[in-house]
Amino acid sequence: MKTAFVLNGPNLNLLGTREPQVYGTQTLNDVRLLCERACAANGFALEFRQSNHEGELVDWLHEAGALHAKGKLAGVILNAGAYTHTSVALQDAIKGTGITLIELHISNVHAREAFRHHSYISPAAKAVMAGFGVNGYALAIAGLAGMQ
Ligand code: DQA
Repeated sequence: MKTAFVLNGPNLNLLGTREPQVYGTQTLNDVRLLCERACAANGFALEFRQSNHEGELVDWLHEAGALHAKGKLAGVILNAGAYTHTSVALQDAIKGTGITLIELHISNVHAREAFRHHSYISPAAKAVMAGFGVNGYALAIAGLAGMQ
C-alpha cells in the first residue's frame, strides 16, 4: 500500500478559530479525519502532519522523497500556508526529490491580497488547488489516486 503525505504549514494548527470567514470552522483534526476517510476510500495509507517551521517541512519532503525512491509514495499534498509565497527552500526540496506534489489552499488565494498571488510551490507542483475549503483535501487525495 502506498502512502499519501498531507503536510500543513504555519498557522494551520489554528484552523477552526483562525479567520473562520476565510478558512471555515473545521479544525485541523477534522481535516485529519476527512483525509483518513479519503485515503481509506482510495487505498492509501496516510501520513498527516503540521509544522510552523520551514526546515521541518523541508525535512518531511525529503522523507517523502525517500519513500518515493522506494516506489512507496502515492504523492504529497502540501498546504504550505504563508511559506507558499516566500519559500525557495520548499521549491528546491520538491524539485530535488522528484516527488509528485499537489499544492493546496483552502481559500482562493487569487481572490485575495496581491502578495498571495505568487507561489514558489507552483513551478514544482504537479497540480494546484485553491478555494474548495477543507473539502479540497479529499478532492486532492482523489486526484492523487487518479495519477497512480
Ligand atoms: C492558505 C493561503 C495562504 O495565503 C495563507 O498564508 C495560509 C493558508 C490557504 O490554505 O488558503 O496560511 O495556504
